Amino acid sequence: MRPRPHFPERCNRGKVLGTIAIYPGTFDPITLGHADIVCRASPLFDKLVVAVAGSSSKKTVFSPDERVALASEILAEFDNVEVRRFDGLMVDFARSQSASVVLRGLRAVTDFEYEFQLAGMNRKLMPECDTVFLPTSERYTYISSSLVREIATLGGDISEFVHPRIKQVLDERLSSRKK
Ligand code: COA
Repeated sequence: MRPRPHFPERCNRGKVLGTIAIYPGTFDPITLGHADIVCRASPLFDKLVVAVAGSSSKKTVFSPDERVALASEILAEFDNVEVRRFDGLMVDFARSQSASVVLRGLRAVTDFEYEFQLAGMNRKLMPECDTVFLPTSERYTYISSSLVREIATLGGDISEFVHPRIKQVLDERLSSRKK
């Protein structure tokens, strides 16, 4: 590649897309919105690592290992996608995976401010890694894992928002809590 002396070092690395990306989140549980991002992003990278945050400030229904197992099951058909748990800083995990891209889905303008801040801080912590945003498909813009959990808890139908396996496991978990 032709050297670009006037640009930052990371602009001299060669191609970025086509390398390793991580897609971090809590995934409690993984929804069809997350799966849609993975489906569309997997052809863009050599490898996509779905990074399940083990230590989250959120009160989760599923343990980290359960979230990893469920996401792995749902995403098993994608050959270049791996699901891994991480604890601690996301950039440390990105480094451990030799990732040069952090992938994030953008659902609405309201996501933008937080995402912009997160991307900026992560770039400060790990300048060799950049954030790539994919707009969430229109049909999933209003989904979030906590809304899905709330609808399921109140007896609503979540089959439009999650894979049938997630619906089954979530229904089982919530009904065992009611007993
Ligand atoms: N489709 C459907 N839902 C989506 C979605 C999509 N494409 N993208 C995001 N969502 C939902 C998520 O399910 C989540 O729902 P919830 O709030 O009800 O749980 C919500 O939108 C917010 O998603 P996100 O911003 O990805 O939050 P998260 O909790 O899933 O992940 C981490 C946040 C884990 C990425 C972030 O906290 C982190 O990096 N933590 C590690 C510690 C660290 O490095 N901190 C320093 C940061 S500078």
